Amino acid sequence: MTNQQTDEEISASNLSNTDVVSRAKEVVPGGAQTGLRAQAYDCGDVAFDAAEDATLTTVAGEELTDYHLAFGPIVLGHGHPRVDSAVKEAIDRGVLYGTGTTELEVEVAERLTDLLPSVEMVNFANSGSEATYHAIRLARAHTGNEKILKFEGCYHGWHDYVDVSVYPPAAELGDVDGGPERRPYPESDGMLSAAVENTVVVPFNDPAAFREAMATHGDELAGVILEPVPHSVGCLRPTDEFVATLDAETSERDVPLIFDEVITAFRHSAGGMQSELDADPDLTCVAKAMGNGYPVAAVGGRRDLLEQAGGDHESGVVISGTYSGHPVGLAAARETLDIVDSEEVPEQLADLGDRYRAGLRDLLEDHGVEGRVVGLRSIFSLQFGVTGEPRDYEDVVGLDEERFRDFAQGMRDRGHFFTPNPYKRHHLSLAHGEADLDEYLDDADEVLMGV
Ligand SMILES: Cc1ncc(COP(=O)(O)O)c(C=O)c1O
Repeated sequence: MTNQQTDEEISASNLSNTDVVSRAKEVVPGGAQTGLRAQAYDCGDVAFDAAEDATLTTVAGEELTDYHLAFGPIVLGHGHPRVDSAVKEAIDRGVLYGTGTTELEVEVAERLTDLLPSVEMVNFANSGSEATYHAIRLARAHTGNEKILKFEGCYHGWHDYVDVSVYPPAAELGDVDGGPERRPYPESDGMLSAAVENTVVVPFNDPAAFREAMATHGDELAGVILEPVPHSVGCLRPTDEFVATLDAETSERDVPLIFDEVITAFRHSAGGMQSELDADPDLTCVAKAMGNGYPVAAVGGRRDLLEQAGGDHESGVVISGTYSGHPVGLAAARETLDIVDSEEVPEQLADLGDRYRAGLRDLLEDHGVEGRVVGLRSIFSLQFGVTGEPRDYEDVVGLDEERFRDFAQGMRDRGHFFTPNPYKRHHLSLAHGEADLDEYLDDADEVLMGV
């Protein structure tokens, strides 16, 4: 399989990827809906026409095996028949009510409280960013404080409260006054400086630095937010000591601990990472794999924290959104959660993930290429120019970006699609199988020979 557009393919569809991308660039900044989507163009223009199972089809008719899976939501494969028919049924019944409640909302809320050990109540949203925004507002209201502590290399969405120190460039890395805190780095122009100033940034997996930051800022913190397994930089595995320290320090000071499980929940485990780590978060954000590609998210957690958003007109926390609790997302979530849980999808995918990782590690060794393969269960990343198990962002920042882009290009030319962003990751779904694995490793062998 190749993604070179033959004249035949172009004439069959009458379109080329470049036609569509050029038109997009006239009317959409960068020709894609986010900068991250535009990064795909580093391997040539690409405009999609269809997606089914593990296959993407471009407007020119090329077929690509999808390891991007839309940054992770697609856990069952594109167009899963049970999920799609549940959505169709839901919209046949009624598209949007915007007030009151529905049995569907209640069922999905009940399901989340059953699955996620720390969650007693939930409020729905449509994206992970909305969920982290709501979580922080709940935490600020509870504590009366404004500062948020986050970890370098963790991504929690695009809003000002959290878009700090996700991918600080090497030249911007640094401590605050020689202490354990890292200099907060705003990821976007146009951010409110107060939001950046109210962010305390600490290295991941460093219990001593965290304890010291808590001793300094504990009384002025509204919350501590983290990806329990930061996949925004490939994969950092939290140490037991780090997790225990997070839990103990935040409980002692009644600072809400916010688990951002937008990537991990339902992909790595039906109960989220919180069901496996020795921590009891106060608030949890979920999205992505919850709806197998349909827009749906939630913030959940302790009853007393969520009840602040009870809708009192005079006071309390406002959590609002015309489309919150939309039947399309919730119907998808009800079905997806059911399949993930009853078919033990995370466990099935973990086995396949292990085989991709092992195969890639062998190839790096065979070809004498410096690099490492990181990941967990259905997620993996190939990082060039770095070795050893990464513990924090500084262990990732030196990776060889150009080499990864060359690898991504070589693989795309052979029919495998993933973002050429070297900090991102491959994802697997229930639609990926043995044949995909063999084809991927054979082609990676060829590409690594030339990289
Ligand atoms: C861990 C994490 N949190 C939050 C978000 C934001 O989610 P969304 O893109 O749905 O707003 C993302 C998105 O990639 C994420 O990976």
